[in-house]
Amino acid sequence: MSTADRLDITLGDALFTLRAIRRIKPDPIPDADLQTILDAARQAPNGANRQPWHFVVLKDAGIRQKFGELYKVAWWAKRNDEGFFKPEDIPDHYKLAMALADKIGNVPAIVLVCTTAPGGRESVIPATQNLMLAARALGIGGTLTSLHADVEDDVQKLVGIPDGASVVYCIPLGYPEGRFGPVTRKPLNEIVSVDKWGTTPDWV
Ligand SMILES: Cc1cc2nc3c(=O)[nH]c(=O)nc-3n(C[C@H](O)[C@H](O)[C@H](O)COP(=O)(O)O)c2cc1C
Repeated sequence: MSTADRLDITLGDALFTLRAIRRIKPDPIPDADLQTILDAARQAPNGANRQPWHFVVLKDAGIRQKFGELYKVAWWAKRNDEGFFKPEDIPDHYKLAMALADKIGNVPAIVLVCTTAPGGRESVIPATQNLMLAARALGIGGTLTSLHADVEDDVQKLVGIPDGASVVYCIPLGYPEGRFGPVTRKPLNEIVSVDKWGTTPDWV
């Protein structure tokens, strides 16, 4: 069966129920599903078709735990940059992300979406969205996360990322404890204009 045939929920279902999944069961993801997810990722549009990406899938429990410790340092470094220094300071909109930072090492797979070229970061964004949508179609959830300069060297060493390549996103993946979608987003009439900014069309 082709990758396309394995992704057989409707595109509408995938788009409208793809929300951040941070509570993830420890159950392993079959390699065939990881293959499908990454095969979908590499179909993405990218600048001049240079495909400046590499995907490092963390599966080994020991590596995931070590990565998890670095991820937690990175998460708190980002919050420190914003003036939050301890759990009691953390605003509600970060509480679930904080909980993920405590246990990301336990999720069955973490995909480090890397770029392999200067200026390649923008090209990995569509690939990352493809990856998330394909995972959704297989009933696998995750959320897009990033690191912090404080831990970049340690992560490079941990997984052997060569000079010239770097991690853009870290995607924890697994089967959700909760449920997918729907998401809460601004209505179209707040974010769409026609011809001139602020001219809201009646069709939104
Ligand atoms: C660029 C970017 C960075 C993000 N970083 C994190 C992160 O570090 N930790 C996290 O738990 N979620 C992260 N997210 C997920 C967002 O918090 C999430 O997509 C947003 O709150 C909407 O959530 P929803 O899709 O469940 O409605 C990130 C998303 C994007 C697009």
